[in-house]
Amino acid sequence: MTRTQWRNEIEKVLISESEIARRVTELALEIEKEYSGRDLVVVALLNGTVLFLADLIRQLSLPLRLDFIGVSSYGAGTESGNLVFTKELRLDVKGRDVLLVDDILDTGRTLTRVKAKLKKLKPRRIKICVLLDKPSRREESVTPDYVGFTIPNEFVVGYGLDFAERYRNLPYIGVLRQHNKPAPKKKKSARK
Ligand code: IMP
Ligand code: MG
Repeated sequence: MTRTQWRNEIEKVLISESEIARRVTELALEIEKEYSGRDLVVVALLNGTVLFLADLIRQLSLPLRLDFIGVSSYGAGTESGNLVFTKELRLDVKGRDVLLVDDILDTGRTLTRVKAKLKKLKPRRIKICVLLDKPSRREESVTPDYVGFTIPNEFVVGYGLDFAERYRNLPYIGVLRQHNKPAPKKKKSARK
């Protein structure tokens, strides 16, 4: 897909493909240093992390295990309303180092709940890695350990992030044009 094909829908490119690639390499180096010699389990949240995760972990020269947790939210449009777990963790994380990966940290509700759920499984430690951080919208106090980019309060799509399940395949991160933007309070719309 070229940018031209998306021109009617995407207002601007916020983070380009090359900026993403550069930053993901940096993050991978930091993570590699931290987890060398540890028993690492990468736990990624579906579906928004797929592109980021694939790029990140192939740059990690570490023995690791990978698993997914599926989370969806209903009842508040694009915001995290009631969380529904659509896929449970299968791997045993007891005593292991967990790196929880998500696409974007917004209000913090999702990661707060997922982290609390994981904690019950008694991992040695849980660290959080997010591609994007929107700190201006935070409601729960979650501090990510690794952040790709800190972004302003704009609704972004691409590189895994969706609006109503579309745009995940954009190779860059962009801002939707006004007429495509999510309505503030729409009912029964899946988020992830
Ligand atoms: P939180 O629970 O509010 O932190 O929400 C995190 C989730 O909301 C992310 O995993 C995304 O699925 C979704 N989300 C929040 N902001 C955006 C955005 O700008 N674009 C696309 N999805 C978003
Ligand atoms: Mg989403």
